[in-house]
Amino acid sequence: MAKLTDLKEWHALESHAKEMGDVHLRELFDANDERFQNFSLKFDKILFDFSKNIINDTTLDLLTKLAQVCGLKDQTEAMFKGDKINITENRAVLHTALRNFSNEPIKVDDWNVMPNIIAVRKQMQQFCDSVNDGKYLGFTDRRFTDIVNIGIGGSDLGPRMVCEALTPYSRAGVRMHFVSNVDATDIHDTLAKLEAETTLFIIASKTFTTQETLTNANTAKEWFLDQKGAKLKDISKHFVALSTNEAKCKEFGIDPKNMFGFWDWVGGRYSLWSSIGLSIALYIGYANFEELLRGAFEADIHFRNTEYHHNIPVIMALLGIWYSNFFGAESHAVIPYEQYLEKFPEFLQQLDMESNGKAIQKDGEVVDHMTGPVIWGTAGTNSQHSFFQLIHQGTRLIPVDFIGGCTSHNPIGDHHDKLMSNFFAQTEALMKGKTVEEAFEEFQAEGKSIKEIEALLPHKIFSGNKPTNSILYDSLTPHVLGSLIAFYEHKVFVQGVIWGINSFDQWGVELGKQLAKAILPELTSKEKSKEHDSSTNSLVNYYKNKRHS
Ligand code: F6P
Repeated sequence: MAKLTDLKEWHALESHAKEMGDVHLRELFDANDERFQNFSLKFDKILFDFSKNIINDTTLDLLTKLAQVCGLKDQTEAMFKGDKINITENRAVLHTALRNFSNEPIKVDDWNVMPNIIAVRKQMQQFCDSVNDGKYLGFTDRRFTDIVNIGIGGSDLGPRMVCEALTPYSRAGVRMHFVSNVDATDIHDTLAKLEAETTLFIIASKTFTTQETLTNANTAKEWFLDQKGAKLKDISKHFVALSTNEAKCKEFGIDPKNMFGFWDWVGGRYSLWSSIGLSIALYIGYANFEELLRGAFEADIHFRNTEYHHNIPVIMALLGIWYSNFFGAESHAVIPYEQYLEKFPEFLQQLDMESNGKAIQKDGEVVDHMTGPVIWGTAGTNSQHSFFQLIHQGTRLIPVDFIGGCTSHNPIGDHHDKLMSNFFAQTEALMKGKTVEEAFEEFQAEGKSIKEIEALLPHKIFSGNKPTNSILYDSLTPHVLGSLIAFYEHKVFVQGVIWGINSFDQWGVELGKQLAKAILPELTSKEKSKEHDSSTNSLVNYYKNKRHS
């Protein structure tokens, strides 16, 4: 295939971006009363308003053409059908199969994966039901009150984010804990709150070889065995494993009945739909977990079958490409106006940045265009009082996704209207800005002299024209959350297809792991480290001196 930046569709977008660079969003709204109708989409209980973007019909036509010539249709089908689109690892990419509720068989190497997926769903359901019904008890026959998920990356962020987001659906009397960091403080502070008799540990690791997770799991095991009355045989009751590596789980002492498998075609950051979601299912009940899957399944159908002009994840992706590649945007902010979604930006960081943080195309060539942006954000309204200044008046273009609900799970007083008035006001302010005339009038109304106004005026002006998407759902239910996550997953996929990169490996995380392995024994050795560069040698030796003096 021709180089992306040589495509005529790419050149057309470059010229068009120059034209649109002279247009202000205010003008676009002034010129068209129907702009919201033209540039918003409704999917089930989610409204997606993308009218506050620096686009017109031509922009969308050109962007969708680019997606077409990049083979999006074929690659989407290839993903859904189980082709090995993760070419560097020779694997299929089938997180969509995990939430497939159609009767469609999905094959990898002629093997229909659906019966196994359904069997693991059933195993999860039975386990959740027996824990919830009090049939599956701890070693002193007490019910489990605390569940500790030990995992990191995709084996932590997805379940952690979803559990927090769906707190209103949590089962009474169950507390969820997440331990991820190899910093002992994480496990120490968690264990300090627990009673061994009523604690269930979930060891979540696709590979079951991750240093952080195994270190924490072993510390949890030692702690458990130190507790009064706990015996080695009780490990099999209190520890369950979610993994693709059965042999390693057994080696750890997990009862084969309590191993919940998945497969190499589920990427870590796409794994919350697999058995990695067990903590979610235990916390909110299996029926609600299935609702989450169903929400994602419906978003999959929308993505797979909807024409690109009306396809929410495709539009999200194309807008990202528009700003990254044609307006020089380096980052993308995600601001949930929903306290329960506080962890959503962190979850998206792994999803997006581990997937599209690549500079090599699938054909092995170095890209000559930008790829994945920096993803960041914090819940609104807190973010307004920290970094919004830079988005409003700084020198960088930062597209923002605003996400919020029409109703709150905690309808106290007028909190929710206040919250959402901020959501709407921020998108309006970012779009419109404040003109010289408006700033001048404000100063005049405050009684400032012309001299004072002249000095202060430039500081009071907001250029506006800052693009935002607004995602407004009825209420944050498991179903809605499932759809929302799936939209972002597909957004990342579409961008990877257009940029010509493999979104499904993560070899960039390997080097640091290898070097840490090499450095670890040096930290306890009596010898001075001298095999590294002068900075690393000196840091290691300084640390050793301090630690052992
Ligand atoms: O180091 C990155 C990574 O491989 C992620 O992709 C993954 O989600 C995480 O580590 C945890 O891996 P595992 O589930 O195998 O412990």
